[in-house]
Amino acid sequence: MRVLITGAAGQVGTALTQGAPDWAEVIALGSHQLDVSDEAAVSTTLSRLKPRLVINAAAYTAVDRAEAEEQRAGEINGLALGYLGAAAARIGAPVFHISTDYVFSGYATEPYVEIAQPGPRSAYGRGKLAGELQLARSCREHVILRTSWVFSAHGSNFVKTMLRLGRERPELRVVADQLGGPTPADSIAAALWQLAQCWRQGEGSEFQWGIYHFSGSPISSWHGFASEIFSQAYARGILSTVPEVLAITTAEFPTPAERPAYSVLDCTKLKDTFAIEQPDWRTGLSRVLDEIKGA
Ligand SMILES: NC(=O)c1ccc[n+]([C@@H]2O[C@H](COP(=O)([O-])OP(=O)(O)OC[C@H]3O[C@@H](n4cnc5c(N)ncnc54)[C@H](OP(=O)(O)O)[C@@H]3O)[C@@H](O)[C@H]2O)c1
Repeated sequence: MRVLITGAAGQVGTALTQGAPDWAEVIALGSHQLDVSDEAAVSTTLSRLKPRLVINAAAYTAVDRAEAEEQRAGEINGLALGYLGAAAARIGAPVFHISTDYVFSGYATEPYVEIAQPGPRSAYGRGKLAGELQLARSCREHVILRTSWVFSAHGSNFVKTMLRLGRERPELRVVADQLGGPTPADSIAAALWQLAQCWRQGEGSEFQWGIYHFSGSPISSWHGFASEIFSQAYARGILSTVPEVLAITTAEFPTPAERPAYSVLDCTKLKDTFAIEQPDWRTGLSRVLDEIKGA
């Protein structure tokens, strides 16, 4: 079955390509091969390739830069989903898309369920929410998988940044009052392929389209995440010392984009509907560090 992956060179795009099942004939297009914000290119590419399924891993992910480039971020994270949805609907292909915990305000005190009221606090979050709405409007057969704090051995992410800073500095200050679920990119890819497999097996019967939450457990702060990264990296000999990690507040580390203080996703719906469990991010971190060490 032909599956088109857009944004294929990113963290999740790479993991999707690497983890593709045998039944999938993957066509992986990076940003230079298909710009998802180019409506005509999206339309032509989908009608030419005629995939049976589209997985969109393309996104504008520079959360802070998006504050100054909201229009461009909105074209890629928002409008493009309308283009992809419409083009996919024309050829009868479902679209699997990835969204974010940043569609929420972060003012909650309990994990966010899928039907919780969104309230993005950043340009990135607003663009991603617009993309969810664009996709839902343009293509009935869609899955939106909201995830959080993505990391892998590939590309830029918090793990890579901490390893670099851990080599450079004996002491680091890391935010401890934002809570969320770090999520390995390979676990997101595995969940998407499992969903694709469920859809494929059940073709003809009613698939439960819609929004699902998927993030790693247990809940952590960035400080807790950093501490685990240093401990595991030291144990593997990736770092020769463990830097001291000082807990600071968000107010002590101002950034252009406001981030949700509490962005914990309730992942029960995905488990109840498709038996897809939350991954333990600490195990995912071990895999990533092993990969970094072996590279
Ligand atoms: N990273 C996180 O912590 C996080 C958290 C929650 C949700 N998510 C969501 O998870 C999904 C995957 O994110 P990721 O971490 O894999 O991001 P990533 O590593 O930044 O990859 C995004 C990819 O999209 C490509 N892209 C950018 N603009 C494009 C365009 N106009 N057309 C086609 N491709 C384009 C980028 O290519 P270039 O590099 O060539 O521009 C990049 O390869 C995204 O939907 C993101 O919003 C991520």
